[in-house]
Amino acid sequence: MVNRGLFIVLEGLDRSGKSTQVSRLHDQLEQDGHKARIQKFPDRITAIGKMIDSYLRSEAELDDRAVHLLFSANRWECCQAIEQSLQDGVTVIADRYAFSGIAFSAAKGLPFDFCASPDIGLPLPDVTLYLTVSPAAAAKRAAYGTERYEQVDLQNRVREQFKLVADKVRTMHGPDRWVEVDAEGSIDQVWERIWSQVKAIESKKGEQIHRLWT
Ligand code: TYD
Ligand code: MG
Repeated sequence: MVNRGLFIVLEGLDRSGKSTQVSRLHDQLEQDGHKARIQKFPDRITAIGKMIDSYLRSEAELDDRAVHLLFSANRWECCQAIEQSLQDGVTVIADRYAFSGIAFSAAKGLPFDFCASPDIGLPLPDVTLYLTVSPAAAAKRAAYGTERYEQVDLQNRVREQFKLVADKVRTMHGPDRWVEVDAEGSIDQVWERIWSQVKAIESKKGEQIHRLWT
């Protein structure tokens, strides 16, 4: 049997540098002869993803709970393909996942447990690398875009919710499933931190895939 792929998630606030590091990780894995693919959440290509996209660009208004469930449904519709990739030995690198789902919706005021429940049973990542930037450093980075959630006060509330998400992951799934990565410094410095974490989970390829929040 071929080893399964790894399921690696990168999380963080908007402008934490996730997407840059996600593509670098993908390129490095391929260069080393591994099969890898990127799965971005939200996946704006699907029918559900298109509804999310127009909501984020403020072209459509949606109830907070309804949009929360759309984000979750967007993960469920990709879940079979993720599991298939892992079985086929392809490492899946997700740019955001259910953890953003909780952090952003809870920051808007929805109850934390309501936010977590629709994602129960999704594939559990082998590791989630949470890119941290201090509020001061975040403010110095390039200005936010024009999307709905790209505002300083909301991002600060999201940061607080991510702490609760981290606690929940560590309590339910073990401390090694959620790793904070200092995302301040140069792209190369952050990359070295990420790469050393990825090399540390090589052995998980022999393990079964677990389920989120179970
Ligand atoms: P983002 O990854 O920032 O997209 P882009 O790289 O195109 O800017 O995701 C868009 C926004 O969606 C971001 O502000 C976080 C938010 N989000 C949720 O509110 N819930 C979710 O479940 C996910 C995956 C993202
Ligand atoms: Mg963004």
